[in-house]
Amino acid sequence: MSRDNLDSILREDRKFPPDAGFIGKARINRVALSAMQAHAERNLEEFWAGLAREELSWHRPFSEVLDRGQAPNFRWFADGELNASWNCLDVHLATHAERTAILFEGEPGDSRRLTYRELHGEVCRLANGLKALGIGSGDRVVIYMPMVPEAVIAMQACARIGAVHSVVFGGFSAHSLRDRIQDTGARLVITADGGHRGGKVIELKAAADKAVADGCDTVEAMVVLRRTGAPVAMQPGRDTWWSDLVADQPDQCPPVFVGAEHPLFLLYTSGSTGKPKGIQHSTGGYLLGAKLTTKWVFDLREDDVFWCTADVGWITGHSYVCYGPLAAGATIVMYEGAPSVPDGGRFWSICERLGVTVFYTAPTAIRALMKLGDDIPARHDLSRLRLLGTVGEPINPEAWMWYRDVIGGGRCPVVDTWWQTETGAIMISPLPGVTSTKPGSCTLPLPGVFADIVDESGEPVTDENKGGYLVIREPWPSMARTIWGDNQRYLDTYWARFDGRFYTAGDSAHRDRDGYFWIMGRIDDVLNVAGHRLGTMEVESALVAHPRVAEAAVVGRPHEIKGEAIFAYVVLRGDRPMGAAAAALTEELRAWVAEELGAIARPDDIRLTDNLPKTRSGKIMRRLLRSIARGEEISQDTSTLENPSILDQLRGEG
Ligand code: PRX
Repeated sequence: MSRDNLDSILREDRKFPPDAGFIGKARINRVALSAMQAHAERNLEEFWAGLAREELSWHRPFSEVLDRGQAPNFRWFADGELNASWNCLDVHLATHAERTAILFEGEPGDSRRLTYRELHGEVCRLANGLKALGIGSGDRVVIYMPMVPEAVIAMQACARIGAVHSVVFGGFSAHSLRDRIQDTGARLVITADGGHRGGKVIELKAAADKAVADGCDTVEAMVVLRRTGAPVAMQPGRDTWWSDLVADQPDQCPPVFVGAEHPLFLLYTSGSTGKPKGIQHSTGGYLLGAKLTTKWVFDLREDDVFWCTADVGWITGHSYVCYGPLAAGATIVMYEGAPSVPDGGRFWSICERLGVTVFYTAPTAIRALMKLGDDIPARHDLSRLRLLGTVGEPINPEAWMWYRDVIGGGRCPVVDTWWQTETGAIMISPLPGVTSTKPGSCTLPLPGVFADIVDESGEPVTDENKGGYLVIREPWPSMARTIWGDNQRYLDTYWARFDGRFYTAGDSAHRDRDGYFWIMGRIDDVLNVAGHRLGTMEVESALVAHPRVAEAAVVGRPHEIKGEAIFAYVVLRGDRPMGAAAAALTEELRAWVAEELGAIARPDDIRLTDNLPKTRSGKIMRRLLRSIARGEEISQDTSTLENPSILDQLRGEG
């Protein structure tokens, strides 16, 4: 656990209570919160059961709330039946079919608006098309799309017929896509000719072709959306244009009601081994968590325009673009491209033009936009904003203050939300009408969430500001159910550390004198680069797959904008080149990793060395490598190093 992190945060003592105007209108006030907390403490199952009955529309009501029989593989509302797409779309048709569901803006400037009625129709047409392709309940469908409304339509259409979607972020490489298609055993891939990002066209169909070319025998069909108009090769018998598939389909499609535990989706995330994990989420519990937290944390109301900037390739885009806000009947904004196109004012221009009231983004974006200066947001009217949120990594107090003052005009509460792919929904976060916020703290657990900090032996850490493992003591409905195809790994990763007593998040945290949580970072070999999780092992495996590389060790170092940057030490086969040849090889390796895993995994630094520092038992001394990457004094014992001169090389001096 990092000392610096702890110290810098400890100096923070600013506190911002919600203002009276906000409190007066908030969905959850102090009284309501106390009642909910008391209820959850008194009877956790009854607490969640009541909410599940109120918030979701059940085709068949559940009689059992929580099944602990196979703990920690908990089951929620298991004998109930429902459909997620029904709960996001059909439930709104009687009362507000003409309300805007999606306000879309493409990177080139094109725009679209879909009402709930239109979105429902599009989802039904695609769902019928998928059925025509032979896709049914339980089949896996991989979605590899740009951030356009069709990405949400594809997810909802899968949910409508009980198919299990697995969205792969469009920035991932063909290689990563192939791994995920193989692991899911998908029968269908839904993609697009391409997407617009950063002023360039990202060729998704070409990458999808490359992915399935080798060892993806389960894939029978590919549906291709025309987005950029770039020419693509269509394989006869396998590939269908989206527009052709839905052309003659009716805009009604009866939903397939599934058991509450039926998997809604798989989403891959990095862990401490080279192989990403397919996190499996349920239909009932997940949807309940996504909807409730949208209403509680973002205080969402009918007239709100909610913009969560996350791509649907991440969990944030699942819970706070596709499922939560639609289940809550809100209007969402979707933007296809980069925040820097045509200039660093794009986010603020969208907020102004589309009248965004609630805005949710990542610290890395906030820091990047902050760096461009206050003049850019000052050119835009941001007065419609009433609430700001952040997610994905710890936010430094300076960026938090900038966000609050410059973007929120000092009047919008800032909710720093802690959660994970595995938790499905926000777990620790301010409630904007109740909680006083502190820059850099995600504050307190939501009602029904029993978060704690424990020491090595699982005993609660009660001392102020003392770090420990962040754990969750009681199950919650939106928790991951398992890792697809590898339940043992699920048990080992999240439950074994404390003998199944509680869920271990893999983060370290401490609490201050008010009981507020401060997340300090990961405790495993997982990096958090620009809010995205990457396993050091994944990058190492990609590096050693290069013919010139014998061995590699990857660590993180702090980065001003991205939070963490990737630093790789590489031992080559054969001689180590010098000068220009070394520089050329380093560039080649960086490009190689980007090709293998996707651009987000491209190492920032690569240092070529003759050896890696190892302990006598052969373990790589990662702490030492981390200190060197950070340019810190070396405090570790280096006397066991076989060849002490290696230190100069690791520092880049030899
Ligand atoms: O380390 C925590 C960090 O992101 C991890 C989860 O990553 P992922 O599953 O990709 O989900 C990201 C979006 C929910 C956590 O283990 N993290 C997430 N939110 C915060 C955070 N760290 C500090 N503060 C947060 N608000």
